[in-house]
Amino acid sequence: MRVAIGSDHGGFRMKEFVKNVVRDMGFSVYDLGTFSEDPVDYPEYAVKVVKALLNDEADRGILICGTGIGMSIVANRFPGIRAALCYDVYTAKMSRLHNNANVLVLGGRVLDFKLVPEILKVWFTEDFEGGRHERRLKKLEEIEVSIEEGRDP
Ligand code: RB5
Repeated sequence: MRVAIGSDHGGFRMKEFVKNVVRDMGFSVYDLGTFSEDPVDYPEYAVKVVKALLNDEADRGILICGTGIGMSIVANRFPGIRAALCYDVYTAKMSRLHNNANVLVLGGRVLDFKLVPEILKVWFTEDFEGGRHERRLKKLEEIEVSIEEGRDP
C-alpha cells in the first residue's frame, strides 16, 4: 500500500512518528512535507496529499495539523475524499467500517502519541462493511454531483 502523508508545523512531530510506524507495517510512505516546525499554512499540505490520492500516486492519505480540524476541512472539499478526524481507536475503526475513509486525520497537539500505533493498525486493517453504508456513501456522491452541476442537493 502507498501512503501519502502531510502535516503543517503543528503536526510535524507526529508526522515523523507516524511515518516510522507506517513503514514498520510494510507500507511505502510518500512524505509531502512539511519538513520542519517552521510555521506553514495547512491548506497547502492538505492539497498535496489529496492530489496524490486523486492522481493515483497513493492509495491512502494521512494528514496532521495541530487539532486535525483545518486539515479535515480542506480535504473534505474534494469530491471522492472521505477524510476522517480520528481521536481514538474506536473512531479510527468506525471510519473504515462505516465511512470507508481514505484519509486519516490526526491532531498532533491533542492526540496522545501512545495511541497512534493502535489507531494506525486498525485504520489500515479494518475493511469497509458496505451494505447500508454503501447506500449512504452513494448519497454523498449524489450530493457532490448536484453541487458540481449547480443543482439543489
Ligand atoms: C496552526 O497553529 C494550527 O492552527 C493548525 O495546526 C491546525 O490546528 C488548524 O486547524
